[in-house]
Amino acid sequence: MSAGSLLGELDGVGRDRARGGFSRHAFDPAERDLREWFIERALRLGLDVETDRNGNMWAWWGAQGPDAVVTGSHLDSVPGGGAFDGPLGVVSALDAVESLQAKGFTPAKPFAVVVFAEEEGGRFGVPCLGSRLLTGSIDADKARGLRDPDGVTLAEAASQAGLAPEWFGADPDLLGKIGRFVELHVEQGRGLIDLGSPVAVGSTVIAHGRWRFSFGGQGNHAGATLMGDRHDPMLPAASVIAAARRAASATGDGRATVGRLVPTPGGTNVIASTVDLWLDARVPGSGRTPALVAEITEAAREAAEAEGCSVTVSEESYSDTVTFDAALRDELKTRLGDVPELPTGAGHDAGILAAYVPSGMLYVRNPTGISHAPEEFAEAADVDHGVRALADVLEHLST
Ligand code: HGY
Ligand code: MN
Ligand code: MN
Repeated sequence: MSAGSLLGELDGVGRDRARGGFSRHAFDPAERDLREWFIERALRLGLDVETDRNGNMWAWWGAQGPDAVVTGSHLDSVPGGGAFDGPLGVVSALDAVESLQAKGFTPAKPFAVVVFAEEEGGRFGVPCLGSRLLTGSIDADKARGLRDPDGVTLAEAASQAGLAPEWFGADPDLLGKIGRFVELHVEQGRGLIDLGSPVAVGSTVIAHGRWRFSFGGQGNHAGATLMGDRHDPMLPAASVIAAARRAASATGDGRATVGRLVPTPGGTNVIASTVDLWLDARVPGSGRTPALVAEITEAAREAAEAEGCSVTVSEESYSDTVTFDAALRDELKTRLGDVPELPTGAGHDAGILAAYVPSGMLYVRNPTGISHAPEEFAEAADVDHGVRALADVLEHLST
């Protein structure tokens, strides 16, 4: 079944009428439908599917074993996300397996398609949660205690989905089976548009992280409180948004975003008592992201003091610059006939695995250059090109 038609099967799952696009978050009903869909599709291909202790799904083509060739991506989305970020890598992997089976190919090495859990951190706030747990790069107790916006812990949500959260944690036996990992992903910028190529090989992932800023003020009446008598946490919150734009722009190549801001209690005629916001900051090169965050934090502290408010800042996740395995990168490029290399500003599970196993990425052109929004897109011809490229490199690596 073509990647395009497999994607079509997902079209009705997790549609977000309010935001547009799709909202599919770890262990919520939509994502659990996607899990069932993946298991059913993988079984149809004769793959043996299992869910690991951390909620990642593995579809094995033949016996499990060392030096496995593994491909895959994620199925969860950001709130109101596009149709391709994550799912394109999964459907392309399934389509690649089917096309290799159709030509009578059988891998000479263990082979698996993987779907990682909570890559976007859209529910529990930490991106690449499934691959971080697998590799032990997040403390299992910290992970179990992560809470979604309704206060539900990851442990509770995972239990409700049939997992045993007491088993969360590093899985060295499973990780040790991976010989090489290749993730296909829709491009999330304009790189391939400008290069005029349908596919590219990943070179680096820029450093990126998330910080929570919590401002405390005095809740009060919007009409009865004179401006000079206020301690409104919205003011220092606004300073973070302005400082993020100013300081990131001043770096030349940095990016800083406040996409999520939650005032409490959130009444139209109420001065907020607290405001929580999350800063997503990313700067190429080592050490530059923390420096950017420090500058924005200083602005926040000054603004909080001026307004008689408190502020606390906590790092929720951070990944330093990733450079994909050079030998694998060059092997992919050579195999695909010298396609371009592309750095990315988006994080991926391949970026987490890269510290543990030789990992690489293939990107498929996105003609809108937009991602994490409903306009995210990939032309059918480019999707097919991506599947052929993935099948070709997987056959090469599995021989
Ligand atoms: O946020 C990211 O970079 C990725 O889409 N998870
Ligand atoms: Mn994403
Ligand atoms: Mn993604």
